[in-house]
Amino acid sequence: MFDFSKSAHHLPLLSQYVAEACCIHLGEEKRYLFEARLGTIIGESGARDIPDFVRLAKADTTGRLRDKIIDAMTTHETYWFRDVGPWASLEEELLPSLAADLRSGKKNRIRILCAACSSGQEPYSIALLLHKLAANGRLNGVEPSQFEILAFDVSPGTLFLAAAGRYSQLEIARGLPDYWRDNYFDATPGNTWTLREPVRRLVSFKRRNLQDHLDNLGMFDLLLCRNVAIYFKEDFKMDLFSRLAKIIHPGGHLLLGGTESLFTHQDVFELQRIRNSIFYRRRPIA
Ligand SMILES: C[S@@+](CC[C@H](N)C(=O)[O-])C[C@H]1O[C@@H](n2cnc3c(N)ncnc32)[C@H](O)[C@@H]1O
Repeated sequence: MFDFSKSAHHLPLLSQYVAEACCIHLGEEKRYLFEARLGTIIGESGARDIPDFVRLAKADTTGRLRDKIIDAMTTHETYWFRDVGPWASLEEELLPSLAADLRSGKKNRIRILCAACSSGQEPYSIALLLHKLAANGRLNGVEPSQFEILAFDVSPGTLFLAAAGRYSQLEIARGLPDYWRDNYFDATPGNTWTLREPVRRLVSFKRRNLQDHLDNLGMFDLLLCRNVAIYFKEDFKMDLFSRLAKIIHPGGHLLLGGTESLFTHQDVFELQRIRNSIFYRRRPIA
């Protein structure tokens, strides 16, 4: 374990490296976080001090050390049907209305994006809803496979877990009523539960940084960007929401986390209450 006290005055260097890697700005007051999350990694790297560690990370052409730092410094808290309310809106109104667009021929495919998807519970919650709606005849002839769910995250470790669709007993219990576990998961070795293939294949995962260009992902009818902007600085958030607006079809929706709201960007988004939850509807392009 690396002893931070000897190199504490170099913390800004490390903080700057993390900010450049994933836009997460942590000041010196968050020294405990650097210590807890990077202490072992710095120790194992053999670096003499923080400048040496940052130099090693920058010089590592495999990107492995950078990935370890990103995995360690990002917060991956997530769970099934997080915040409950918006999922009822999706189940009762938004997803059936998108299915109606497919049925009428207005759209031939519905595209949904989960930005910063962590270990997959969020995009898989949508896939589960689509399967349940189909099983109950509420997609009226539309197939879940006519929906494409793309999910991305900056953290390679968390994406690896997401793609496997396999969850511990503790993870499966967080937010997921037994109905879903019993109907859509298989019990697998190691006291884990694995999401069944027909649900899993609705979602594809990519590695992507919210700092990157997003336009080449295509256009989306529904975009979830939840519980991640809270970690970003104000100017980056402003830029991010402008870029997100550009990849949502006019009339499409943006969903934020339960404690997040968007007071800016009123030229591109209008607040829409669907049932008891707030969505941001992409205005038509003037
Ligand atoms: C707290 S989790 C939220 C997960 C999920 N959206 C939810 O609401 O349950 C935040 C996620 O954002 C990801 N993240 C942080 N910075 C990012 C960036 N610059 N680009 C893409 N993902 C990022 C983290 O790796 C983490 O998995």
